[in-house]
Amino acid sequence: MAAKGVAPALTLSSGHQMPAVGLGVWRMEKPAIRNLIHSALRIGYRHLDCAADYQNEAEVGAALAEAFESGLVKREDLFITTKLWNSDHGHVVEACKNSLKKLQLEYLDLYLVHFPVATRHTVGTTSSALGDDGVLDIDTTISLETTWHAMEDLVSMGLVRSIGISNYDIFLTRDCLAYAKIKPAVNQIETHPYFQRYSLVKFCQKHGICVTAHTPLGGSTANTEWFGSVSCLDDPVIKGLAEKYKKTPAQLVLRWGLQRNTVVIPKTSKEERLQENFEIFDFEISGEDMDKIKTIDRNYRTNQPAKFWGIDLYA
Ligand SMILES: NC(=O)c1ccc[n+]([C@@H]2O[C@H](COP(=O)([O-])OP(=O)(O)OC[C@H]3O[C@@H](n4cnc5c(N)ncnc54)[C@H](OP(=O)(O)O)[C@@H]3O)[C@@H](O)[C@H]2O)c1
Repeated sequence: MAAKGVAPALTLSSGHQMPAVGLGVWRMEKPAIRNLIHSALRIGYRHLDCAADYQNEAEVGAALAEAFESGLVKREDLFITTKLWNSDHGHVVEACKNSLKKLQLEYLDLYLVHFPVATRHTVGTTSSALGDDGVLDIDTTISLETTWHAMEDLVSMGLVRSIGISNYDIFLTRDCLAYAKIKPAVNQIETHPYFQRYSLVKFCQKHGICVTAHTPLGGSTANTEWFGSVSCLDDPVIKGLAEKYKKTPAQLVLRWGLQRNTVVIPKTSKEERLQENFEIFDFEISGEDMDKIKTIDRNYRTNQPAKFWGIDLYA
């Protein structure tokens, strides 16, 4: 077990280390980012999960620049992830350089293909253009293999240390392994107690791909509002176990993620929850209780881009 206040790290296939707990910044309000990131760094977070599509890379970059300048943290002690948006599959180098510029960084620790789908390129923005039919304008001319080889170029250019994929199922992950010259170091997927994805997690881990759990709290208030999902934090089994271990439901669920050897990247806009979500290294869920959590899986996906795109990409 790691010492209190220090997140354990997983070694990626690239040889680099990735802290097992990160802070997700999706839906973080721009004016709040500076203070949230600085508080997180003071607490001990050393891993940030960003994306071009979150539209807040510039604010994250400004917060980081200030943190480096003031000596709060050194660049080499951080692990910064960002992601290639769907509309930029044909413009990988340009998109990566754009993210680096906004983040005010010289290199990324991890760059992910955000979704396994290319969409119509929209110059200078990350957008999800819809066609005349009101449905996501999917570009069928760029293969994921082409995108991946462009991602590999970023490593040889020194812009990125590790590359990975996100929202890839077993079929697409398998295919990526077959054509990759540099294997994906990470697959970032939605997984939480209501969507455990045992087969995908095991497949990735068997093939040396670290799994990062996005939406690791799996349907909390905001997700319930956005996606109409049911929160696993309200599940009686989770609540009962949280009481048993004298932890909160969120801490129990995040600890469960760590014990599956997945990396967790919870997002919060509340200072007190930053601390709460990081205090998960001082207890261990027993094997028996891990088995109990296995039984509450609902195969329940909370992130449904269908809401915005007029098409269910997982259908
Ligand atoms: N690759 C992808 O396609 C993808 C998709 C989705 C997310 N992600 C990444 O994963 C990160 C996390 O995902 P997410 O934000 O969707 O879901 P999440 O981290 O599972 O849940 C965030 C929600 O939980 C609440 N929350 C945080 N800590 C809590 C606590 N201790 N107790 C109760 N509620 C708590 C937050 O509200 P407050 O802010 O009010 O605390 C927010 O509404 C994102 O920020 C992003 O970086 C990636």
